[in-house]
Amino acid sequence: MYDIKIKWFGHAAFKIEMFGKVFLIDPWILNPVSPEKKLNQVCGDFIVVTHDHGDHVGNALEILRNCPSSKAVAIYELASYIAEELGSEQRAIGGNIGGPIDLGEGFEVVLTPALHSSGKGAPTGVLISKLGNTVYHAGDTGLTYEMKLVGELYKPLVALLPIGGHFTMGPREAAYAAHLLNPKYVIPMHYGTFPMLRGTPEEFRRYLIEFGVAAELIVLKPGEETTVRAEVPRTR
Ligand code: NI
Ligand code: MN
Repeated sequence: MYDIKIKWFGHAAFKIEMFGKVFLIDPWILNPVSPEKKLNQVCGDFIVVTHDHGDHVGNALEILRNCPSSKAVAIYELASYIAEELGSEQRAIGGNIGGPIDLGEGFEVVLTPALHSSGKGAPTGVLISKLGNTVYHAGDTGLTYEMKLVGELYKPLVALLPIGGHFTMGPREAAYAAHLLNPKYVIPMHYGTFPMLRGTPEEFRRYLIEFGVAAELIVLKPGEETTVRAEVPRTR
């Protein structure tokens, strides 16, 4: 039996523990709604950054410096920047959209298209998979039909979707994204950090029902962790 542990720090920052590896995604651990006040204890094997906006790069560089065995994963131009900042090409794995990246031990990461902007390279989402169990973090994105393709090919077990609006999907768009992705579990993010990100999980739930989405909604509080059961093997 394998569990996948998903911890939300608020905003777009998550820790995913699956099959013995720890992934930090968009690790703005010290965001305004996070209960974490220090980075001391926060490390991961892989630090995934979806795009170069400050609320997503977050504390990635400090974490990479604090945790010498951790590696960054990001789109090529952003990974190159991170490697340069750390003074080591070995510390960042640069990929590009749609290309399966082999992280070893059966772990695969695929950067997905995101409908957004960015300075260094294109904005992305990310799929993290092992043994057919896939966690999808959409990054910052508007609703895009690419999500249907992601759903069909990768059959995500869990989808982490922005619902705040203004810069990303709001609750209605995110619920439709969940309809296209058809995950088993859906977790809202990128809301409530600032007044401008006004989408709420309650609205999200309403639209999930309206669109007949079968996924189970899991609403976390910043600092809270949930566990979902991996299916081994999971057919996709
Ligand atoms: Ni952004
Ligand atoms: Mn953002």
